[in-house]
Amino acid sequence: MLKKIQPEGLSQNVFSMIGKQWMLICAEKNGTANAMTASWGGMGVIWNKQTVTVYIRPQRYTKEFIDDADTFSIMVFPEAYRKQLTYMGTVSGRDEDKIKQCDFHTEHIDETPYFKEASLVITCKKLYAQKMLPECFIDKETDKKNYPLKDYHELYIGEIIGIYEETDA
Ligand SMILES: Cc1cc2nc3c(=O)[nH]c(=O)nc-3n(C[C@H](O)[C@H](O)[C@H](O)COP(=O)(O)O)c2cc1C
Repeated sequence: MLKKIQPEGLSQNVFSMIGKQWMLICAEKNGTANAMTASWGGMGVIWNKQTVTVYIRPQRYTKEFIDDADTFSIMVFPEAYRKQLTYMGTVSGRDEDKIKQCDFHTEHIDETPYFKEASLVITCKKLYAQKMLPECFIDKETDKKNYPLKDYHELYIGEIIGIYEETDA
């Protein structure tokens, strides 16, 4: 069962959670959900709102879903799901029914899709999207190293609607 917590009550370290544990980003288009693994992102405050920022390359199928939807979710999973997270991050939903292959079960909260197997779910309302531009890199090495294909990420800032922790109760 999911229990709503306040952003201030989030006990996990954001750097470990996003960078090491990884997350799935999930959104829905025409009644179907797609999700992808992400290990780059952030949480913070802007415009007096508590927000999540995710970075999505243009070739991701999930991008079409996020662009179409008003909301998206990010999810964190127990370590036992590492294999599924690797798969969700190497195969495209264009080529396979990834959700079925992982035996994830799609449910909705705040009118936003998530997977029942997640230990933490954060629902977000899209506020802002912007494609990164090569001319904006102050450190040109960062551009050179990360974008040899010039496939610049689009960043999405989402206002946190709710944070939900899975409880066994
Ligand atoms: C650990 C890990 C982290 C990733 N982080 C990101 C990310 O932050 N942004 C991104 O665009 N792709 C990231 N990817 C790549 C996508 O998850 C991958 O291309 C995925 O297959 C896209 O699926 P889709 O085409 O169904 O959207 C990551 C992959 C892995 C394995």
